[in-house]
Amino acid sequence: MNKYESLLNKNDFTREEIIALLSPTTKDDHELLLEKAGMVRNETIGNNVYFRGLIEYSNICAKNCYYCGIRRGNEKQGRYTMTDQEVLDCAKFAYDEGYGSLVIQAGEVSSKDFTDKIEYLLKEIKKLSNGKLGITLSLGEQTSDVLKKWFEAGGHRYLIRIETSNKDLYARYHPNDELHSYDERLRALNRVKDNGFQTGTGVMIGLPRQNVGHLADDLLFIKKFDVDMVGMGPYIESDDTPMYEDRNILISKKDRFELSLRMVAVLRLMMPDINIAATTAMQTLDPVGREKAIKAGANVIMPNLTPVKYRESYLLYEGKPCLDEEAEKCKGCIMARIKSTGTVVALNEWGDSNHFFKRKNSDK
Ligand code: 5AD
Ligand code: SF4
Ligand code: FES
Repeated sequence: MNKYESLLNKNDFTREEIIALLSPTTKDDHELLLEKAGMVRNETIGNNVYFRGLIEYSNICAKNCYYCGIRRGNEKQGRYTMTDQEVLDCAKFAYDEGYGSLVIQAGEVSSKDFTDKIEYLLKEIKKLSNGKLGITLSLGEQTSDVLKKWFEAGGHRYLIRIETSNKDLYARYHPNDELHSYDERLRALNRVKDNGFQTGTGVMIGLPRQNVGHLADDLLFIKKFDVDMVGMGPYIESDDTPMYEDRNILISKKDRFELSLRMVAVLRLMMPDINIAATTAMQTLDPVGREKAIKAGANVIMPNLTPVKYRESYLLYEGKPCLDEEAEKCKGCIMARIKSTGTVVALNEWGDSNHFFKRKNSDK
């Protein structure tokens, strides 16, 4: 057994060991890591993959992150918000098709009109599905009062990506103001946890000036924060954003993709019982990127339910897939894709993170 292989049999790693795992020197070692992570998933939480039907509710965002195509400052981008009926139609489709859960995602808005509207929609979705559709929210930094209302209305999982756990990189890729404070983002993530949500975070991989040391720190941050779920994927440059200027210093798309797969795999070794998403950004860089992520230990996938007429307007980055496929077609496509990974789509289940329940029990 070589040194790399012997590392794979551990589940607790030092920073140096994580760096080593993220930097295999042969293709064989890279493949062994991904294979091992898939096995660890199967042995710990099984080979089920859970669906979260994705509703990109609105592309209106108060923030101005330098990497994002729907940032407030991108005046070229027309803005939309789905109608209530459109949202409920998506939810009904998900329920009828046995998706088990939804993710509601939007730019970050904290007005009362917006937060009341989300509360209303949550209640309506719960009604139309007899309480059976699980709901994950991905709606940015919010106050405890808002989070409480949303939790009571039926949201039970919440994602806020920390984007990068490195403060210097964070400061470099966001405007320097109150709205974009690293410390505040961390506090927002804590509020999510304190209000009872299953809590998710994530990072972007392959940011300009980011090295494997930063990524090892990201994984250690995720582990230390003791999250229940993670969504992470490659950074993809987007014109119409300030960070497009840095496009010439990025590692290649292939390297970013493979590094992202290793991040998923190493995280699976470190946190065997959490939920890890095979993200859309993975498929953007590789036509079978999400399938590869599932093989490398991911267990959640988010088929897009957003009406096709809005999809072009929710381009966080270039080359997003499924722009023309209505939900119906996307479902068939995704089912076939997952079958190819040796896993099973678990329909009609919430697919909650096992880690969450263990965490709760140990709190008692
Ligand atoms: N490349 C990859 N991911 C991005 N996101 C935003 N812009 C980009 C980009 N250019 C991700 C961020 C955000 C999520 C909604 O999309 O991580 O949290
Ligand atoms: Fe808004 Fe999120 Fe894009 Fe930042 S990454 S500009 S918060 S949608
Ligand atoms: Fe959406 Fe294939 S996954 S069309």
